[in-house]
Amino acid sequence: MNPSGFPLIRPRRLRHNPLVRELVRETTLDARDFIFPMFVRPGKGIRTEISSMLGNYQLSPDTLVEEVGLAKDAGVKSFIFFGIPTHKDATGSSALDDAGIVQEALRTLRKHYKNEIVLITDECFCEYTDHGHCGILNEKQGRTDVDNDATLPILTAQCVSHAKAGADMIAPSGMMDGMVGAIRRGLDAAGFSHIPIMSYAAKYASGFYGPFREAAESPPQFGDRGSYQMDPANTDEAMREVELDVAEGADILMVKPALSYLDIIRRVRDNFQLPVAAYNVSGEFAMVKAAAQKGWIDERRVTMEILTSIKRAGCDIILTYHAVQAAKWLKQG
Ligand code: PBG
Repeated sequence: MNPSGFPLIRPRRLRHNPLVRELVRETTLDARDFIFPMFVRPGKGIRTEISSMLGNYQLSPDTLVEEVGLAKDAGVKSFIFFGIPTHKDATGSSALDDAGIVQEALRTLRKHYKNEIVLITDECFCEYTDHGHCGILNEKQGRTDVDNDATLPILTAQCVSHAKAGADMIAPSGMMDGMVGAIRRGLDAAGFSHIPIMSYAAKYASGFYGPFREAAESPPQFGDRGSYQMDPANTDEAMREVELDVAEGADILMVKPALSYLDIIRRVRDNFQLPVAAYNVSGEFAMVKAAAQKGWIDERRVTMEILTSIKRAGCDIILTYHAVQAAKWLKQG
């Protein structure tokens, strides 16, 4: 660009007419790129609103069918499920149960909606363990920690059980080393070589997960997740994490959270040739809702700006609690 081009050169020329602005817009949102996270628990007729995530509910399989139907009508076709089991123990055994809550939800939804929707399952143990950590615990040098290698087989068993129940895609979120490779081998051996893995490849130990832990009833009962999730200060480490997941066979790479990590999304986009997803997490959603309720921001405008910024940073896919509302706004045009 010629720096002395003014007054011949005027960038505002392309902003004068709103239709021309649309013509030159670089980033657009599409409801087909959204994944809507949902929470399911055993029972009937349950529809408990999550107070820190207004418009999101803990549902039972029957009400889940209704809510998925509404989302589908709005144009959202992909969903990721989190289970809240009745029974929690030290090893999260209910996660592997073929009769478990996520498995039941998958079968129910598949029956109702056939192949019209994409069913994705979050693979982790924090919702299923009584201690709230993402795997089996051990103690080394006086520190209680998640036992990486002991967790891999149960994580794999959970994934296979979900695939058997009808999951279209598997999304491991526990940040265990070697998890993608272990799950890939397990799925392939069980006849699910066609099921893709969307890895939570660069997942940070974030304060933005606060409302989710209320929603999923999964806060750690002691300590934090700093020994398995990443330090928010790091970016080269994220490249290493992603590289390893690619080598282990990940099909889609996720960065999480989204907003404070747009630089990471961009780096992943520029360095890897796989689809990139970002998780616009519960705390990011809750901040928008709270400020909008107070009348401090325009909810629609801010939501669309946030989702656009995540896409602009380089994402193909956005996991977001705004999915259904944003899809409706997109339809309105
Ligand atoms: C782990 C998991 C978490 C989220 C998604 N998967 C919680 C955590 O790591 O503590 C958080 C999502 C959100 O905040 O919206 N099962």
